[in-house]
Amino acid sequence: MSEKEIKISFIEYKSIEELPAEDRELAAEAINAMSGAYAPYSHFHVGAAVRMSNGQIVRGANQENAAFPSGLCAERTAMFAAGARYPDKDMRSIALAGGVHGRLTSAPATPCGACRQVMAQYQAKSGKPMSVIMIGAEKVWKFEKVDDILPLIFDSI
Ligand code: THU
Repeated sequence: MSEKEIKISFIEYKSIEELPAEDRELAAEAINAMSGAYAPYSHFHVGAAVRMSNGQIVRGANQENAAFPSGLCAERTAMFAAGARYPDKDMRSIALAGGVHGRLTSAPATPCGACRQVMAQYQAKSGKPMSVIMIGAEKVWKFEKVDDILPLIFDSI
């Protein structure tokens, strides 16, 4: 028997202004992407932006539906669009932001478990780390790799 430990680390910034230039650009895209949300039920608007290995940025926003499970989160909307548009490129980074009436939540928007699993698999597909930037009005978190927000992913099939 042996006890194991998993350590996660991340960087906390005061605002997106403190981010390095490329991350700041991606964060601004995620905030702008919130305007594409279709959220007549929750009224919670989420925007996401994915940076590809060719430098292109692909945006997504949450899309809701009266048949609730048919809707989709902003992160997966962005990643699936990015995967379909640039199937041979890697996803290097994803940023997300959320809020109501265009106002960001004060705490960073954190992705749901299903979106983390999808991030983890695109990271595994590329074989390189994919960073995750979670944006809030009062703080911003950057995780260098998806493992830090979802250890022990399902990859058994
Ligand atoms: N949502 C996202 O877009 N991303 C997440 O990671 C969590 C939640 C959306 C789904 C739904 O449209 C709304 O936020 C409220 O849950």
